[in-house]
Amino acid sequence: MTTPSGEADLIIRDLHASVDGKEILRGVNLEIRKGETHALMGPNGSGKSTLANVIMGHPRYDVTQGEILFKGHNILELSPDKRARMGLFLAFQYPSSVPGVTLSNFLRSAYAARQEGYDPDAPEAPSGDVPKQKRINPSEFRKLLQSKMSILKIDNDFLSRYLNEGFSGGEKKRAEILQMAVLQPEIAVLDETDSGLDIDALRIVAEGVNALRGPNMGSLIITHYQRLLNYITPDIVHVMFRGQIIRTGGRELALELEEKGYSWLTGETEEAAAPTA
Ligand SMILES: Nc1ncnc2c1ncn2[C@@H]1O[C@H](COP(=O)(O)OP(=O)(O)O)[C@@H](O)[C@H]1O
Ligand SMILES: [Mg+2]
Repeated sequence: MTTPSGEADLIIRDLHASVDGKEILRGVNLEIRKGETHALMGPNGSGKSTLANVIMGHPRYDVTQGEILFKGHNILELSPDKRARMGLFLAFQYPSSVPGVTLSNFLRSAYAARQEGYDPDAPEAPSGDVPKQKRINPSEFRKLLQSKMSILKIDNDFLSRYLNEGFSGGEKKRAEILQMAVLQPEIAVLDETDSGLDIDALRIVAEGVNALRGPNMGSLIITHYQRLLNYITPDIVHVMFRGQIIRTGGRELALELEEKGYSWLTGETEEAAAPTA
């Protein structure tokens, strides 16, 4: 179950995917290692959210070609639940609310499932029973939660509220980041439309991600605008256009996009029109 040394933890090769028969991803190649922070940028409609959904296994999308390997295993046939148990995490662009389920109960169940995990080499369905040696009692879980909440500067009363019910935009983001902190994913994908997020919400996401950054987690931060990257410094920046990654570079690529827009790369004049130098 170990990843051969040198091999990336998440490997996407020649990925093609479609929705309702319409091809959206047209040959995506991407490798992410733990410890690396990647940014995925690109004009609206490029396929960024589609890629996030396909990585997580959203049933709406058909993968027609290519593969996704996570920790050396092809995960395309696995349900989103199994992918999450293995250590993949997606922070939603638009998180759903679940009235009647408190944030703390939700986190507790999610944590238990993650503890139980999933071993694709021993593929009996997860039973929902956490093996005894991995189980933690309520007070230990509470401690874990408290420590994550203090890192993320989250108030205690947040926990007893129903998941995302009546949460502000910023609170929803906070809840997503708390979830990420508790689940301790190996690869986290954050699909962040910046539009609609005020600067405070952006900071929450950024501070949370920065606090969780480290050698045990790799991340893919999806963002249309460079401003999020003022707070999260990526190691690697990719630009997606029409379902393909058309450019990969260092953090300076994000700054270049900020200055020049996307059109110099895409050859199209659309949005963020490039000021001519
Ligand atoms: N569920 C869907 N049904 C129909 N079309 C979709 C769906 N999801 C994405 N698309 C289409 O796929 C293209 C890429 O969308 P998306 O992945 O959301 O791009 P981005 O996140 O880069 O803005 C768009 O043309 C969009 O209309
Ligand atoms: Mg999107």
